[in-house]
Amino acid sequence: MLIKIPARHALKESAVTDYSVYLQRREFIKKSLATGGAIGLSAAGLPAIAGVDLSAYQKAADQALAAELTAEKSITSYNNFYELGTDKKDPEKNAAMLKTEPWSVTIEGECERPGMIALEDLIQTKDIEERIYRLRCVEAWSMVIPWMGVELGPLLQRFKPTSKAKYVEFTTLHDPANLPGQRFPVLDWPYVEGLRIDEAMHPLSLLVVGLYGKQLPNQNGAPLRLVVPWKYGFKSIKSIVKIRFSETQPETSWNLSAAKEYGFYSNVNPEVNHPRWSQARERRIGEFRKRKTLAFNGYAEQVAALYSGMDLKRNF
Ligand code: MTE
Repeated sequence: MLIKIPARHALKESAVTDYSVYLQRREFIKKSLATGGAIGLSAAGLPAIAGVDLSAYQKAADQALAAELTAEKSITSYNNFYELGTDKKDPEKNAAMLKTEPWSVTIEGECERPGMIALEDLIQTKDIEERIYRLRCVEAWSMVIPWMGVELGPLLQRFKPTSKAKYVEFTTLHDPANLPGQRFPVLDWPYVEGLRIDEAMHPLSLLVVGLYGKQLPNQNGAPLRLVVPWKYGFKSIKSIVKIRFSETQPETSWNLSAAKEYGFYSNVNPEVNHPRWSQARERRIGEFRKRKTLAFNGYAEQVAALYSGMDLKRNF
């Protein structure tokens, strides 16, 4: 693993399972920072890791969501990562099969600075911040996850997309020798996802390298994944090896496999049902009663303007 999320705590791993422990850890970090980083944080990592650099909106959202955090154990043991198997338990069980070191990302297409870049040059520790987001899977379950990552937009700008770059396409590692799921035609491998360029540039779009203050577990898409919180979880592609700027809408894996079920946009929408189940309600992992699905997964105020004038029932 090349991107080091600095160790943020002195608690045993086994103790870190719920929000109260997480809060204690945050408190400990704050104190450690005040006393000069006694727990060994790298100097470059301090300000962003401490989460002091968030916008006013992000701070408010973090506070509101912090009380709802899903247990770390659930986030890392109930996964969709078909490359590591189709059962929810498979990705954790098979996590070691994903080789994440060394890791580099190829930048292609409509940009002035294409090339291949090592992960440690792509993601700078000083830019990493914590964002607490809801994750809503198209299968009608949800979680609240404290991600560690960098805003996607500024990172993409470094490669100088041209005026023809209307979309951004992301591709997952293709390694059937090691990834058991890729030996079966469940999807047309490798996994590909895409965003319109303005969606990719939206400040909520995140490239993630960690969660709960630690390096991203393999089952959650190490070492680098996308998180687009207002869209169904399948848009948040894992273990990214390629980013391509394109003039035309990318052909994405789930859309290719069943276009009537998985639209290119796939914004969370309680009014547009999946052909085989309702999207009006969802099961928050760890809760007993179902709750109402929120338009754009609760981020309407921030993102609805991206779709003004569009018929979201047709462009689902
Ligand atoms: N990315 C890849 N490469 N392969 C996958 O199977 N599953 C998607 C998404 N990204 C998937 C993927 C789906 S359906 C969801 S809901 C989220 O990852 C789940 O992320 P999590 O396991 O970290 O909760």
